[in-house]
Amino acid sequence: MGPLEVLKEADGQGPAEMPTALRELYGGQLVLRPPVVFANFVSSLDGVVHIPGTGKVGRVLSGDSQGDRFVMGLLRACADAVLIGAGTLRASPASNWTPAQAFPEQAVAFQELRLRRGLAPSPRVVVASASGELDPAHPGLRGALVVTGASGADHLPGELDAEVLIVPEGPSGLDLRSMLGQVVHRGLPTILSEAGPRLTERLVAQGLLDELFLTLSPLLAGWPAGGGRRGLVGQTELLPHRSVGGELVSARRQGSHLFLRYRLTGAGPGLSGGLSGELPSA
Ligand SMILES: NC(=O)c1ccc[n+]([C@@H]2O[C@H](COP(=O)([O-])OP(=O)(O)OC[C@H]3O[C@@H](n4cnc5c(N)ncnc54)[C@H](OP(=O)(O)O)[C@@H]3O)[C@@H](O)[C@H]2O)c1
Repeated sequence: MGPLEVLKEADGQGPAEMPTALRELYGGQLVLRPPVVFANFVSSLDGVVHIPGTGKVGRVLSGDSQGDRFVMGLLRACADAVLIGAGTLRASPASNWTPAQAFPEQAVAFQELRLRRGLAPSPRVVVASASGELDPAHPGLRGALVVTGASGADHLPGELDAEVLIVPEGPSGLDLRSMLGQVVHRGLPTILSEAGPRLTERLVAQGLLDELFLTLSPLLAGWPAGGGRRGLVGQTELLPHRSVGGELVSARRQGSHLFLRYRLTGAGPGLSGGLSGELPSA
């Protein structure tokens, strides 16, 4: 793969150098400032991120873009934890959410990056499930942190090879602020969300998403009536009454694909502001 073309970069200065191969492919440094929750999505040109019943939906939507796989691998390589909802876990039966699985071509450089930044060899997978109905044989659950409520805990399979964290439940599901606070307290303050629209819409509605990395694919997906397709905030109603938007931090290009990074504004206090009373002192 050739380097991504940098169209804009407003935040490329950081203390820990990325390995040269990654710096050249990305076109500079990727810097994240913990505590932070940043989501990664690939979207069709007309805004579809989820097509029910379609395997490897990200690859379908991106047209199997190498650049998208590279950015996904790089984001995972920079993260302490990768957060997914049980919907994404079920839809990806072979995934383990490692940097190398997204982009094996740079597996060694991703390891080197983690070493330089003092990160564990792999990001910790954090799976949020209200129901507790999980397949214990899923490779992504090995050593994962499973977050559920009291009722979900009763349904968890006995043979789960994962740590279980029980958080309070409210009318709109698990208390995500409490969940993220506890993930940060475990020493995992840089949290990549690869959750699907259902969990993402709750994160956005509660003002817990700080940044969005969006791959905009040049493909049109269509919105057939009753097809169950979703955009990245699912069925949450924002406009016209609530304005949540993004400030463009960086933009890159490979062919007709765009790789956009936004800092979200209007969503709420974000992870650092929202958890200020709950974070451990540095
Ligand atoms: N285009 C992209 O970049 C992209 C990115 C991510 C995912 N996806 C696709 O999106 C699809 C999955 O979508 P999804 O929306 O079902 O996935 P999801 O948001 O990852 O998972 C939803 C599940 O999260 C659990 N959950 C726990 N607490 C919740 C809360 N407070 N609110 C909502 N859910 C909570 C529930 O699990 P229980 O059912 O166990 O209660 C719920 O069913 C897959 O096809 C995946 O490939 C696409």
